[in-house]
Amino acid sequence: MEINLDINNHIHKVTSSPGETLLKLLRRLGYYGVKHGCETGDCGACTVLMDDKPVNSCLVLAAQAEGHKIHTIESLGEYPDQGWRDRLRKRIEPVSSPSFKISIRGACKYL
Ligand code: FES
Repeated sequence: MEINLDINNHIHKVTSSPGETLLKLLRRLGYYGVKHGCETGDCGACTVLMDDKPVNSCLVLAAQAEGHKIHTIESLGEYPDQGWRDRLRKRIEPVSSPSFKISIRGACKYL
């Protein structure tokens, strides 16, 4: 099936099988900051933001993400001069994993 996904403010028109998880689709599209872990919803390594709320992408079908805004760790930028790294370091130390960082970004909207 063909679906349209809004990932990091870019619209992707992709073909996905009915059982493909959002985790597998994101990695297939090159968003390698989303990590494989337990794939049972326990570890949080695959966390992304869906409409600014953290979700385990291993538990979401790719088709369920259509119509929602998805943000991965890549949306924070990769260069220190973008400032996100310094801002996080000043507030929360240590910041250790991509899933933790993206969860903090989602949580900051509610602080
Ligand atoms: S891979 Fe562990 S919660 Fe998704």
